[in-house]
Amino acid sequence: MINLGIIGCGSVMQGPYMELVNKLIFKNIINLKSISDKNIKLERILKKKFKFQFFYNDYKKILNDKQIDVVLILTSMKEHATIAKKALLNNKHVLVEKPMSTNMEDLKKLFSLAKKSKKLFVAAPFVILSPTFQAIHQEINKKTIGKISLARARYGWSGPNWGEWYYKTGGGPLFDLGVYNITTLTGLLGPVKNIIAKSSISKPFREINGKKIKVLTDDNFQILLEFKNKCIAVVTTGFTMQQYSSPAVELYGSDGTIQMLGDDWEPKGYEVWNNKRSSWELFKTPYANWPWASGFTHLIDCIINKKKPMICLDHAYHVNEIMIKIYESSKKNKSISIDSSFKPLKFIKKIKIKKSHLDHDRNHDDI
Ligand SMILES: NC(=O)c1ccc[n+]([C@@H]2O[C@H](COP(=O)([O-])OP(=O)(O)OC[C@H]3O[C@@H](n4cnc5c(N)ncnc54)[C@H](O)[C@@H]3O)[C@@H](O)[C@H]2O)c1
Repeated sequence: MINLGIIGCGSVMQGPYMELVNKLIFKNIINLKSISDKNIKLERILKKKFKFQFFYNDYKKILNDKQIDVVLILTSMKEHATIAKKALLNNKHVLVEKPMSTNMEDLKKLFSLAKKSKKLFVAAPFVILSPTFQAIHQEINKKTIGKISLARARYGWSGPNWGEWYYKTGGGPLFDLGVYNITTLTGLLGPVKNIIAKSSISKPFREINGKKIKVLTDDNFQILLEFKNKCIAVVTTGFTMQQYSSPAVELYGSDGTIQMLGDDWEPKGYEVWNNKRSSWELFKTPYANWPWASGFTHLIDCIINKKKPMICLDHAYHVNEIMIKIYESSKKNKSISIDSSFKPLKFIKKIKIKKSHLDHDRNHDDI
């Protein structure tokens, strides 16, 4: 039995993560020993919803407990790096929500600790685990659309009405949402060479939990990424996007186009245009309910079966460096080079998504 501790018991803990944790508790794989939140009022609420042994106001009590094997860090973003470093130093397997860090100094320290640790470390987001991502990755490797020169990705919404921290320094839509697009694009196209970005505060005041607050971090981004393979991509992200009906990601190659349908954290499949065929082929995913928090079940699987996680630390570091430098680029109004790199991602298992027969029917609402 694996003893689990969870730090940060807000929206994602109570929703997507506990759904997966409960499944593994039911299978007698996990024991949820302790949870921690700095909001002590949560103890009473969570006791009614979930089964756990201890609630701590101070997360260090979880890290000091030698019986705890795995720690999930699901706090607001600014706290991630400090808690993750301490968790590794206390010999825990770690899952940390995105981003690993909101500044380069902590990012480097955490990366170096995670590299040296004998324990497993996985950093969100986990988009590369989705079968749709892996199927598109295979198409690219098969050169279905030839050499990719341009790409675009987008993810945004009107923004959370909870968690004031989302609108303070170390919060914002880039670390929260753009991170998915940058992980997807780099996962598919490889490392980025340099970036240039524009960002702004579009909505200076917000109402959070019924209280009017001043927005202190940018909520609106356009980002240009130049990849080492010379492809150029644009990422649009913000708490300033009310709706869209476009694909999450589009890749433009010398022989065709691939588009990922839905959002990259919840993909609905993909479509391929090939010049020779001269039509679109639709691949609706049978895995539409793939859970975006599945980095957790993957981590537990890796611990039990002594496997190396597919979530690559070098890739996560690269994405995090890009995001930190996007702020720098926007502030300094100039292009910034990216120092880190990572090896191309490899997937052992072949993913087969069947072609839909209704490939003439391209109404995205049907998917
Ligand atoms: N909400 C989403 O849709 C979503 C989706 C994917 C990932 N995430 C990520 O999950 C994380 C949490 O997001 P959320 O929406 O659940 O936020 P939230 O504000 O609802 O919850 C965060 C919780 O962390 C607690 N906390 C902060 N510092 C702490 C500390 N030092 N010790 C113990 N508890 C502490 C807060 O009191 C709060 O209850 C973020 O990194 C976010 O980027 C959120």
